[in-house]
Amino acid sequence: MSTTARLLPGVPVAEEILAQVAEGVAQLRAAGVTPTLATVLVGDDEASAGYIRIKSRRAAELGFASPHVRLAASVSQADVHAVLADFNSDPGVHGVLVQHPIPGGLDYDRALQTLDPDRDVDGMHPVNMGRLALGLPGPLPCTPAAIEALLAYHGVPVAGREVVILGRGATLGRPLAMLLAQKRSTANAAVTVVHTGVADWPRYTRRAEVLVAAAGVPGIVRPEHVRPGAVVVGGGVRYAGRRLLPDVDESCARVAGAITPRVGGVGPVTVAMLFRNALRAARSAAGRAVCRQGGGAEALPR
Ligand SMILES: NC(=O)c1ccc[n+]([C@@H]2O[C@H](COP(=O)([O-])OP(=O)(O)OC[C@H]3O[C@@H](n4cnc5c(N)ncnc54)[C@H](OP(=O)(O)O)[C@@H]3O)[C@@H](O)[C@H]2O)c1
Repeated sequence: MSTTARLLPGVPVAEEILAQVAEGVAQLRAAGVTPTLATVLVGDDEASAGYIRIKSRRAAELGFASPHVRLAASVSQADVHAVLADFNSDPGVHGVLVQHPIPGGLDYDRALQTLDPDRDVDGMHPVNMGRLALGLPGPLPCTPAAIEALLAYHGVPVAGREVVILGRGATLGRPLAMLLAQKRSTANAAVTVVHTGVADWPRYTRRAEVLVAAAGVPGIVRPEHVRPGAVVVGGGVRYAGRRLLPDVDESCARVAGAITPRVGGVGPVTVAMLFRNALRAARSAAGRAVCRQGGGAEALPR
């Protein structure tokens, strides 16, 4: 790649976040709380099993207890709900991750809706989306939070600047628009969202100071869609087997001022955000327990 743009790698951002998480986990353990992140895998999709293995290993490295439930692809929707109900009622389980996608015939969104929103480490439960829309505290959707953190880490301001997001999907484009429009120093952007309903979307992307690709259409963003010197963030990806196909064509690096790398950009920060949400869930559950016992939440490490 003949790069002229500055690269915005995600790995150092993820490392910084994970170091903070490990410290927070150690503090909770020292206070007698074992932060616990449960994982659920439904079916025998090899890629999903691989992702869960990596996340479980990383959870253990960070000091989380990480019980795992694996269900056969033949289970019913009620079976999935029953597992989540068990975790919801277990005070020792603080966060729950259901690996997405789940086998056809089962409804991931319906299952997610039965999960306790405070245990939702993906930040995708409708209650958490509502909290995001209202600016209330709660677990943030991981990829949008990752993009905000990545830009802040690399000193890319978005406040007062025009950010154009290509894609209005529930995982990325829509929650990212809500996040970056919030009144905070690392947000405060003028956000525009374009999609298939905006036939002439390049008109908007070409004026963007920060362009986020969130379409999941390989190579959809090309140099002619990028304002010279703009910051380009590749969020959307598709997989062909193990091959990663990003939305942003590599040639955009010739025009952009800064750009996330093809591999090791938003992805690693997204995973770090999952653990940050899990730590957050453990802290608030522990705080509630201390309060129930008549103590103050200030007794717990922050
Ligand atoms: N990097 C990471 O760690 C990470 C994590 C999670 C998700 N992702 C990726 O993020 C991407 C978005 O996911 P999502 O679930 O939010 O989105 P989604 O539901 O797949 O929606 C895609 C969006 O892109 C728009 N779009 C698709 N083709 C287009 C075109 N030709 N012209 C203009 N707009 C187009 C769609 O417009 P309409 O609404 O009009 O159909 C839609 O709003 C996916 O590629 C996913 O893999 C990445």
